Amino acid sequence: MNKWIWAALIGAAIVIGGTYMVVTGNSDTGTSSADSGEVPASTEVQGQETDKPAQADGSTDGVKADGEKPDQSAAEESGKPDSASGQQQDSKPADTKPNTDSGNSGSGTSANEGDAVVTAAQPNRVTVLVNKSHRLPAGYEPDDLVYPDVPFIFSEKSDKRKMRREAADALKLLFDAAKKDGIELAGVSGYRSEARQKTLFNNYVERDGLEQASRYSARPGFSEHQTGLAMDVSGKAGKCAAEDCFAGTDEANWLADHAYEYGFIIRYPENKEQVTGYKYEAWHLRYVGTDTAAAIQTAGLTLEEYTEQQ
Ligand code: DAL
Ligand code: ZN
Repeated sequence: MNKWIWAALIGAAIVIGGTYMVVTGNSDTGTSSADSGEVPASTEVQGQETDKPAQADGSTDGVKADGEKPDQSAAEESGKPDSASGQQQDSKPADTKPNTDSGNSGSGTSANEGDAVVTAAQPNRVTVLVNKSHRLPAGYEPDDLVYPDVPFIFSEKSDKRKMRREAADALKLLFDAAKKDGIELAGVSGYRSEARQKTLFNNYVERDGLEQASRYSARPGFSEHQTGLAMDVSGKAGKCAAEDCFAGTDEANWLADHAYEYGFIIRYPENKEQVTGYKYEAWHLRYVGTDTAAAIQTAGLTLEEYTEQQ
């Protein structure tokens, strides 16, 4: 009988031991069907970052260096009154003699994307209209580009400092006048070749998509920067350079009040995107000559609206 008792005890020990092994096996390995094969979250994040287009980062440099900007939302939502567009349109000064030659041969001044494109017949006119439906001749390059004698937010002597001679001289006068009023300005981005604009535009499209990029960046051949008559401007320290937060600064307010006295206009005023094709850019100055700038400022027009009236 003792033999049978021992046999029963050994059998019970085997059953208990086997159950224990099953439990400890699951506990130690942690390889339940629910966990096995899952990629750790950190690995997935790593993969997404690796997949991010290089241009999205590369364009950030372009943004700062060339005056294009990544965040356009603040100015759109600021509701800040635009001193140029808020003025009466029928109070042109008596002594104004606007240059009536826009430099374009086409009819209409529309800046809409889908409109027929007109090529500027006289791209060297300082009043030339360049927008989404008015382009420069392919490969156009001004032949009188110079370096304006003004400070910039960067140190290198690159093409983006350049403007056409008449505009460069006027920019110097503008900066000197601002300084006398305690406003220290700096250049951010001036002349751009068609090739340079192509690189920038493509970078912004890659980063923000075509629809959004087209609200703040021109296609190659369609940018005022290619005329040598445009300069993006910031305060001396470069804070908010070509960014929405430049709007409302002392520098922006001074420019809105005084740029026209030196032949410049704030080319893309607030609440005029339907007319100009671009969101508000408080920093983008366009030289048009003092008579035209005064007429535009006094009447509160865009260059499109002014050109249409001529
Ligand atoms: N930011 C202006 C519209 C340009 O790209 O020329
Ligand atoms: Zn600009």
